[in-house]
Amino acid sequence: MTTPVKYSELGLVNTKEMFASAMAGKYAVPAYNFNNMEQLQAIVLGCVQSKSPVILQVSGSARKYANPIMLRHMVAGAVEMARAEGSTIPIALHLDHGDSFELAQSCIDNGFSSIMLDGSHHSFDKNVELTRQVVEYAHERDVTVEGELGVLAGVEDEVSHETSHYTRPEEVEEFVSRTGVDSLAISIGTSHGAYKFKVKPGEEVPPLRFDILEEIEQLLPGYPIVLHGASAVIPKYVEMINKFGGKMEDAVGNSEEQLRRAAASAVCKINIDSDGRLAMTAIIREILTQKPSEFDPRKYLGPARDELIRMVKEKNELVLGSAGRAK
Ligand code: G3H
Ligand code: 13P
Ligand code: ZN
Repeated sequence: MTTPVKYSELGLVNTKEMFASAMAGKYAVPAYNFNNMEQLQAIVLGCVQSKSPVILQVSGSARKYANPIMLRHMVAGAVEMARAEGSTIPIALHLDHGDSFELAQSCIDNGFSSIMLDGSHHSFDKNVELTRQVVEYAHERDVTVEGELGVLAGVEDEVSHETSHYTRPEEVEEFVSRTGVDSLAISIGTSHGAYKFKVKPGEEVPPLRFDILEEIEQLLPGYPIVLHGASAVIPKYVEMINKFGGKMEDAVGNSEEQLRRAAASAVCKINIDSDGRLAMTAIIREILTQKPSEFDPRKYLGPARDELIRMVKEKNELVLGSAGRAK
């Protein structure tokens, strides 16, 4: 085996202090998913410019897409870019929806500072067993671990659940104490992807189950909670996509007001993937429609990256409350 690369060598931190500060300051740290260079640049620059801590989030399939070695060097480069901008914002690299010990181990040995083991689709005991195994390996290396209890609805490529069920607060204490996880993803009504709710025109999206969240907060005061499926499915991007040849008519996301409320609670990490995808796709569709002869990728990926920087800054300021919390 090649020599493991520790995350601190890449200038990364784990999520421990990030979450302690987020809990104390009543905001949430953004966890933005990325697969490629433009997304990574935009996320880091958006967070540098809005002075926000950031969790760079990569799914197993995203890691495969980028290539694990390439990905590690990209992240090291992104950290160096942030420092060259004079920024000291804390940056974590997190495996999103890890599904096996082997994947978690490979990520930890290749510079990840935080791991999610998603055993939510297994039985409670199997989930505990898998998560515990990852926690033992991770904690020996000062890597933080996120577990999940409850099943989110929705389909997101490889993360798909036909049915959802809300987290049962009565299971949370036992899960946390048996596994030793540093944070817990819960299911309170969000779901993955761009089609989160079925609503008729003019209808509001159903409210999140803040009662479940509050019960969990009471059982585990000060414990960091994570919200997956937290994109707003920003309507202006959906409209642009539909206007410029796309077809996403029924795309609906979370209410930003509800997300703000969650960010001010024990929710310390908010996961956003779909909104970033929509922002880039909207701009790329617009440019390719308006300039059909354009074939230089920089001419559409560049503006798409600029739009993503804007989106990240706006979210950090208006939804997460994480802007201005770092330097
Ligand atoms: O929750 C899942 C993320 O949005 C990542 O999705 O497997 O398509 O990279 P992905
Ligand atoms: P969205 O699909 O709502 O962006 O959720 C992303 C997510 O939860 C990644 O783990
Ligand atoms: Zn998720």
